[in-house]
Amino acid sequence: MDSFFSGKKIILGVTGGIAAYKSCLLARLLVKLGAEVRVIMTPSALEFVTPLTFSTLTGNEVIVNIFPETQKNGVSLKTWHIEYALWADLMIIAPLTVNSLAKIVHGFADNALTTVVAALRCPLVAAPAADVDMYNNKVTQENLKILKAMAYIVEPEEGFLASGLSGLGRMAEPEKILEASELVLAGFSKDLEGKNILVTAGPTYEDIDPVRFIGNRSSGKMGFQIAKAASLRGARVTLVSGPTAETAYPGIKQLKVRSAAEMKKAVDKNLSESDILVMAAAVADYRPESVAAKKIKKEENIKSIELTKTEDILGSIEKGDKKIVGFALETDNEFGNAKDKLTRKKLDMIVLNSLKDKSAGFEFDTNKVTIITKEGKIKEYPLMSKFLTANYILSEISEL
Ligand SMILES: Cc1cc2nc3c(=O)[nH]c(=O)nc-3n(C[C@H](O)[C@H](O)[C@H](O)COP(=O)(O)O)c2cc1C
Repeated sequence: MDSFFSGKKIILGVTGGIAAYKSCLLARLLVKLGAEVRVIMTPSALEFVTPLTFSTLTGNEVIVNIFPETQKNGVSLKTWHIEYALWADLMIIAPLTVNSLAKIVHGFADNALTTVVAALRCPLVAAPAADVDMYNNKVTQENLKILKAMAYIVEPEEGFLASGLSGLGRMAEPEKILEASELVLAGFSKDLEGKNILVTAGPTYEDIDPVRFIGNRSSGKMGFQIAKAASLRGARVTLVSGPTAETAYPGIKQLKVRSAAEMKKAVDKNLSESDILVMAAAVADYRPESVAAKKIKKEENIKSIELTKTEDILGSIEKGDKKIVGFALETDNEFGNAKDKLTRKKLDMIVLNSLKDKSAGFEFDTNKVTIITKEGKIKEYPLMSKFLTANYILSEISEL
């Protein structure tokens, strides 16, 4: 499958902050993923990194002056700023200084970067970065409120700052800016701000003895991507995960569990504060009747393990006006079984993924799902990354 960024036209705006060095990595990542990247720098940005770095990384000339002396990238000099603005599918400004922020939100167009922003038709992603006091400054905060209506803001992080101070203001890491850019390019926004989402992910392990368990092949990838997508879309996310190699996205509250019983406990404890519950975990239906205290020996010649049903997580919850979304992974009569689960478990929506689909289901980074709502809406999605699948699932939930 082609990278999502393949062939995408992106303007990377770089302003004069110390985090400008991280934008070199961002440019590199975008190019590696197949995007065409043109960089515009403010004159102050030249104090931190050179145009040569960006032109080498992107293969394109870098614009600094509003009135360039030579033709750039085959674009006529007459109104290059308009042509650039019309050319782009997306503009990213990283880092965005408090100075450029102030100018942009008040419509200034006094250098190459601010002029292109003023003419922009495509979406804008901005990653502000500043020292903690500059960032918390009342005027900066007011300006950020205006920017919110104009751009997707990749919030800065807390930590050690170049000034030696510590606090909020570090530019988000390039990977996070990249993910936000994918989200915005795909047409999504921070539409889940103010929502609390509880997501379950991964397999459960049901112990047989101190060294063995009954598990399943769920990798947790789908649930982790739903949690990440919800977080990038502004939701407060709690992720209850079974044993998995996946890492939770920064800012997500992760609760690690092992068995179906532990998962149920964690869901019960966190459900009351949630608006939405997405049950992407592959929860065991059965567990051993009892767990052997010592490792079962070969010589014991056991013929079978007595099993008992695990408790149904959705069976006893107080649903209220929460939206409850389940997942089904079936090997036969997929559609019928998924619809049956939707009704039986009183779900608002079920996401069906089939093991028969190539590159979909357990372990893959891609998925191909069909969404069925309790009102009878059925929507089939093509094969795509689990991140994009997650976003479409979240949009369907918003429409419920
Ligand atoms: C070493 C150094 C680091 C700076 N880092 C930042 C920064 O991270 N964020 C910021 O808003 N300003 C920072 N500044 C101040 C800006 O460079 C200054 O406000 C400049 O006018 C910004 O211009 P521009 O927005 O046109 O790029 C820094 C200045 C210096 C000397």
